[in-house]
Amino acid sequence: MKKSKVIIDKEFVLADIDSRIYGSFIEHLGRAVYGGIYQPDSPMADEQGMRKDVLALVRGLQVPVVRYPGGNFVSGYCWEDGVGDREKRPSRIDPAWGTIETNRFGLNEFADWAKKADTEVMMAVNLGTRGVEDARNIVEYCNVPGGTYYSDMRKNHGYSRPHDIKLWCLGNEMDGPWQMGHKTAAEYGRIAAEAGRIMKMTDPTIELVACGSSNYEMDTFGYWEDTVLEACYDEVDYLSMHQYFDNKDDNARDFLASTVVLDQFISSVVAVCDAVRARKKREKRINLSLDEWNVWYHSNEQDKEIERWSKAPHQLEDVYNFEDALLVAGILITILRHADRVKVACLAQLVNVIAPIMTSDTGAWKQTIYYPFELVSRYGRGKVLHTLVQSPTYESCHGDAPFLECVVTMDEEAGTLTLFAVNKSLDEDMELSCCLGQFGDYRVKRHVVLSHGDVKAENTEEKPDTVVPAENGKSAVADGVLTAVLPEKSFHVIMLGK
Ligand code: AHR
Repeated sequence: MKKSKVIIDKEFVLADIDSRIYGSFIEHLGRAVYGGIYQPDSPMADEQGMRKDVLALVRGLQVPVVRYPGGNFVSGYCWEDGVGDREKRPSRIDPAWGTIETNRFGLNEFADWAKKADTEVMMAVNLGTRGVEDARNIVEYCNVPGGTYYSDMRKNHGYSRPHDIKLWCLGNEMDGPWQMGHKTAAEYGRIAAEAGRIMKMTDPTIELVACGSSNYEMDTFGYWEDTVLEACYDEVDYLSMHQYFDNKDDNARDFLASTVVLDQFISSVVAVCDAVRARKKREKRINLSLDEWNVWYHSNEQDKEIERWSKAPHQLEDVYNFEDALLVAGILITILRHADRVKVACLAQLVNVIAPIMTSDTGAWKQTIYYPFELVSRYGRGKVLHTLVQSPTYESCHGDAPFLECVVTMDEEAGTLTLFAVNKSLDEDMELSCCLGQFGDYRVKRHVVLSHGDVKAENTEEKPDTVVPAENGKSAVADGVLTAVLPEKSFHVIMLGK
């Protein structure tokens, strides 16, 4: 049995956890909106056409914020097409995804949906094909109480009160050559500064996210962050980063080691943000918004078959397996370990499109990745402790990777200490010990485990409960020391309290 040790101290608090790290994302893409959150002809729809079964599953994840409406889609979007009289809304092509957007659902409906889902909207503006003026107008439409052209337009559309959206993205993946209206770092930095400035002049209470890199492998990575922040440091609050993980070589060891990449990516972006801060001699720190992350590769081949200009096709419908759930758990632990600088993170996406929740015309079910997200979102609240992990490591294509991924959080209000851990070993159990110090009188209250003998096991509509958590972990506290046995390939939530 492998052995590992976790070292914590009550006084060594890394950060207050910003609950927005448990955010998610809905794009006008595939069946995320149409047939996902909205399906007026479904027996599961409410009076507004929102799927009630989906809302229940979304609420279970406790997502405090949902990014909308894209993604690549937003870089060609006219938000005005999706507001007002439904019968007059135009259908448009969406060049980003090769589909047709009917605009039956738009920002007002999304704001309504968000209320029902107990979440907040994180709105992205189009800085691809549009610019500064449009960015101002949409803030006016959403957030100005009334008495002006766009705020009165909203009122005429049936929304007398402002949506009061607090978090805004200045475009999407503008570093990507695939993006409509793709820009150089200097071009983007300028437009982000000017759009951001006028947006904050329109509503000074909002926060802004500038586009960072679309992934760590981008050729422009580093230079992009530096140049963009040089131009818009004073106007923005967060810098975005996106990262998707694949397992093309079907190598579970390497795949599970991908958290090493995310860890390096986050540290590198922090370094660039702080270098610009030092150069500019600013007090303000720019924090990070990891506003797209997930596993994404299963649907790549089938997506090549999609007929061009179809409406809400089955697109990016990855069916996730158990090893994906283990990686998602590892990613969430990595995000928590950087909670001092990562203040927003969005699991991309939420429903049907690379999502934890899937739907058909007859029901909705939880994919494997639903469970780690639900467990960490539910119990990973409060503060993160500096968590020193002593674990055996293994060689992977990403370099040396620890077998144990672990972080400890402390919820003073609830009087709990929670340890999240993944044993990535595919063939060996691990003993974990942690001296509880000031928490020496705590005992194990719950120990939830997500495990399965087959890393390829999936949840489907027919068999939705193939991979589900169980309350059967082996752990105990004796003489102030927590000892737990983590079976090979498993994820654990060990909650301690008095
Ligand atoms: O989430 C799917 C796509 O991935 C988004 O539209 C884009 O921002 C990213 O490349």
